[in-house]
Amino acid sequence: METVLVVGATGNIGVSTVMAVLRSGRHVLAVVRNQDSAQKLFQHVGTQEGISTVEADILSEEGIQGVVKKVEGGHLPAFQHVFGAAGGAYGTTRLQDLSTQELHEAMLVNFESNFYAYRATIPYLLRQNDPRSTWTLCTGSQGDIGVYAAPALTQGPLFSMANVACRENAKTNVRFNEIYLACRVEVDYVAIKTGSMKASDFSRVYERILSRPEIRGCRVSVHGPQDLDDLKYKKKLEV
Ligand SMILES: NC(=O)c1ccc[n+]([C@@H]2O[C@H](COP(=O)([O-])OP(=O)(O)OC[C@H]3O[C@@H](n4cnc5c(N)ncnc54)[C@H](OP(=O)(O)O)[C@@H]3O)[C@@H](O)[C@H]2O)c1
Repeated sequence: METVLVVGATGNIGVSTVMAVLRSGRHVLAVVRNQDSAQKLFQHVGTQEGISTVEADILSEEGIQGVVKKVEGGHLPAFQHVFGAAGGAYGTTRLQDLSTQELHEAMLVNFESNFYAYRATIPYLLRQNDPRSTWTLCTGSQGDIGVYAAPALTQGPLFSMANVACRENAKTNVRFNEIYLACRVEVDYVAIKTGSMKASDFSRVYERILSRPEIRGCRVSVHGPQDLDDLKYKKKLEV
């Protein structure tokens, strides 16, 4: 059975990803901070069936490298797909007041975590050479609209990382895509209270990306419920 490694599995986007993977009939290998986070994930998803968890520090260079080593050692299921959903660092400090520490923290949590995950997993996927492989990254429109400095600054590098990854994987076995999210997604019980999009609804997007091999090297844009089934995707680069 195919397995999806989900980095940032316990957050709003991660929970949505796990729901998509289970519905698609695949297995989840969820990276969690600790067992409390794992329990939170099971609660949000409503089951623990089909989900393996592994503890790792996603903010360290070695975190996901260690997960890949365990997979290669046969201690965890082999995976064919990766979803980068790490992040969530927010903050309303104005650009001119942003401290160096706040800037570094936001970059570490929102950007470097996903970069470390990419760098640790891509060589593994290329070595496996499985033609079904995918790597999907979630980015946000905050990087374009610039309402909040810290989260906005972190999205620019993610957009660029997606460009490079689309180019570098254009002729490989790995189908890289970016999901550009321009609305707020939250776990279902929170979304019901706030009126944002439910993680269970947003999960339709990733489920469809997994099932559509022609979506490759693309940005899939989600502005609202109208974009969940009729996917709006465009090649990021002409390569
Ligand atoms: N949600 C949205 O509406 C939205 C919109 C646009 C873009 N995005 C993109 O998606 C990313 C994730 O958003 P989200 O709403 O899913 O965030 P979230 O709910 O805060 O989840 C973030 C994930 O990263 C982990 N994480 C965060 N800080 C960590 C730390 N210091 N150490 C270890 N793990 C840490 C969390 O683990 P724990 O559960 O253990 O804390 C969780 O798994 C954003 O950064 C952005 O790039 C999201």
